[in-house]
Amino acid sequence: MNCSRRLTDTLYWVGANDRRIALFENVYPVPRGVSYNSYLLLDEKTALFDTIDQAFTHQLLENVSSVLDGRSLDYLIVNHMEPDHCASIADILFRYPGVKIVCTAKAANMMKQFFEFDVDQYVVPVKEGDTLSLGVHTLTFVMAPMVHWPEVMVTYETTEKILFSADAFGSFGAINGNIFADETDYKNQWLPEARRYYCNIVGKYGPQVQALLKKASRLEISMICPLHSLVWRKDLDWLLEKYSRWSSYEPEEKTVLIAYASVYGHTEQAADAIAARLAERGVPNIAVYDVSKTHPSYILADAFRCSALVFASITYNNGIFCNMETLLHQIAAHNLQNRTVAFLENGSWAPVSVKHMTDTFASLKNMKVLEESLTIRSSLKNCQGDCLEALVDSIFQSLA
Ligand code: FEO
Repeated sequence: MNCSRRLTDTLYWVGANDRRIALFENVYPVPRGVSYNSYLLLDEKTALFDTIDQAFTHQLLENVSSVLDGRSLDYLIVNHMEPDHCASIADILFRYPGVKIVCTAKAANMMKQFFEFDVDQYVVPVKEGDTLSLGVHTLTFVMAPMVHWPEVMVTYETTEKILFSADAFGSFGAINGNIFADETDYKNQWLPEARRYYCNIVGKYGPQVQALLKKASRLEISMICPLHSLVWRKDLDWLLEKYSRWSSYEPEEKTVLIAYASVYGHTEQAADAIAARLAERGVPNIAVYDVSKTHPSYILADAFRCSALVFASITYNNGIFCNMETLLHQIAAHNLQNRTVAFLENGSWAPVSVKHMTDTFASLKNMKVLEESLTIRSSLKNCQGDCLEALVDSIFQSLA
C-alpha cells in the first residue's frame, strides 16, 4: 500500500513510521515510536533524499514506486550514513540500477564500510557549495560535519527554498497523520520529545550545530524536511531559536531540576523538601526525578531546559549510586554547560558521593557548583533545617 504524503506540488514524503521499536539506537525509549523520513522530488530529473531503516525498506520501495509511477529514479541524495537512513541504499540500487548517488567523500567511504556493492560506480561526490540541477529545481549542498556524524551534509533546494536537514530539527515520535508541525499542538505535544531527541542525539555537538545554524541563517528557508518526525513550514524562527539555545547550552527556563538516588526513601524525602521550599519561594516548573525510575535521556533533556541542577545521591560501594553515576556520565558526555549545580549526599557510615559527583562535573564549562552542599547521615533530621534552608536560598538566588 502506498503510504506516501504530498508536501508540495513536486515533493513527497516517502518514509515510514516505526511504532514497534522499543529503544532507538538500542538506548533511548521511544514510547511514541519514531519516523524514518525519506523525500522524493519530481522534476525533469527525479531525486530521492535519503533512505530509511532496513525494517521498513518494503514500505519505502512501495512509496517510491507509486510516486514515480513508472518514471526512473535519477539521483539518490545521501545526507547521512547512519543505518536508520542509509540501510535501504542497496535495495534502491537493485530496484533502480541507473541511479547516481550524490554524497560527500566521507559518506562514500562509509558506504564502502556498510555495503558490498561497487560504491565508486554509483557515487557523484559533492563538497560545500556544489550544485545539481534537476530541471526547475536546483540543489545546493551544505556540509554539516558532526550533526550528527562526520560525513553529514544538508541539502538546500533553491526554487522552493526547502532545507533537507538530515538529523537536525527532528524529534522522537512517529508521525500520526499530521505531517506538518503546524498541524499539531507542538509546544505541548512534541517539544519535550524534540528536546530529548536533540539533547541525546546531537547535544554533544553544540559548536557544530551552531556552525550549521550560521550557514542556515544565510538561506531563505520556507520548509525544513528533517530525517525524523514532522516537517516545518511555519514558525521556523521559533524552531531555530530553540536550536540556537540548545546548541549554545543556554537554559530555556530559570528553574530547577532535582535528580535523586534513593534506596529507602530518605534521600527522596530531602529532594522533596528542597523542591517544596523552592516552590514556596515561587519557582515554577520544578522537575524532580528518581534516577532509578526515569531513563537518563529524559533527565538529560530536562537538564538542558533548567538553569539550576540539584543532584542528591546516596553513597553506594564507596561511590555514587549506580543509576546516578550513569546520569552524571551522560550529562558530562553531552557537554552540558552554563548551569548552577548543587549536590546532596547521604551515607549511613561514610558519605562520599558529593566528592565523586563534583569530580564528574570538573571538566564541564561554566558550571557554578554551590558551596552549600548537604550531607545526610541516614535521614534528614529536623536539626538540619538551617542547612537545608541555606542550600535552598543559594539555589533560589542563582535563578535571579
Ligand atoms: Fe537519525 Fe544520526 O541518524
